Amino acid sequence: MSQGAASAPKFAVLGNPVRHSRSPWIHAAFAEQCGLPMQYRAVAVEPDKFENTVIDFFARGGKGLNITVPFKQKAFALAERLSERARVAGAVNTLLQREQQLVGDNTDGIGLVRDMVANLGWQVRDRRLLVMGAGGAVRGVLELLLKEHPSALTVVNRSADKAVALAQDFAELGRIDAGGYELIADADFDLVINGTSASLSGELPPLPSALLNDRSCCYDMMYSAEPTPFMRWAAQHTAWAVADGLGMLVEQAAESFYLWQGVRPQTGPVLAALRNRLAGGST
Ligand code: ATR
Repeated sequence: MSQGAASAPKFAVLGNPVRHSRSPWIHAAFAEQCGLPMQYRAVAVEPDKFENTVIDFFARGGKGLNITVPFKQKAFALAERLSERARVAGAVNTLLQREQQLVGDNTDGIGLVRDMVANLGWQVRDRRLLVMGAGGAVRGVLELLLKEHPSALTVVNRSADKAVALAQDFAELGRIDAGGYELIADADFDLVINGTSASLSGELPPLPSALLNDRSCCYDMMYSAEPTPFMRWAAQHTAWAVADGLGMLVEQAAESFYLWQGVRPQTGPVLAALRNRLAGGST
């Protein structure tokens, strides 16, 4: 490694597992595009070592961390200062140090909204929006979705009580109709977001066949080289547009990069290159 690279500011993503993380590749692409020196590594952390790893990283001069599964709540608890969007999400995916304090932010929600609205050109404002799932991934994006002013927002979950509790947590920010999948038996939606982890196990949430109308857009927050089960379902049910979460991944990374470096990278070329790598089987 050249001396320049060794002395470049240090960044990392902490998770477990984290071996297949695409964040090092994405941030290297951003750094090259912006002409900024940056070392970014993926670090697998044992659950009982998370706090010490973070503290040690910054004590040794590290500049910024991304936090992924399963540590976003731990990072939230560890941060000494929180952005408003991290506080509302109850989870942190980006850490940095400002004035001797560990600051936690969450860029997942803005990443999702930028991908849907700016990259894909989908309309959220005044549209009827359905979000499936009530876990950490959904909690992380609800505030930003509400801020886009959909005409209605419904959250459904396999365990209905979790969806109801989530809606109550966000009640001050806007109205959310919540319940089990029976809630959507006779409804159709303009935008359907799959925020469940069902795609990870090749499964599909129990969706009614009349869920889509002729302008419905379907977004899976997961991604893989092949279309996910939800994306295949959406195409079979003649969705107007279908997308996976690769763009969200790149957009949340761009927002983290901006927080650390003060420069906004262009995401389009990086997303296109990452899509090619994924299609070509690169991990
Ligand atoms: P994450 O951090 O990715 O959100 P999580 O907190 O474990 O992970 O939440 C996973 C979500 O996917 C939950 O809403 C879960 O539903 P339950 O709360 O009922 O378990 C949802 N989920 C997982 N597999 C699913 C499937 N096959 N069908 C429908 N929902 C599923």
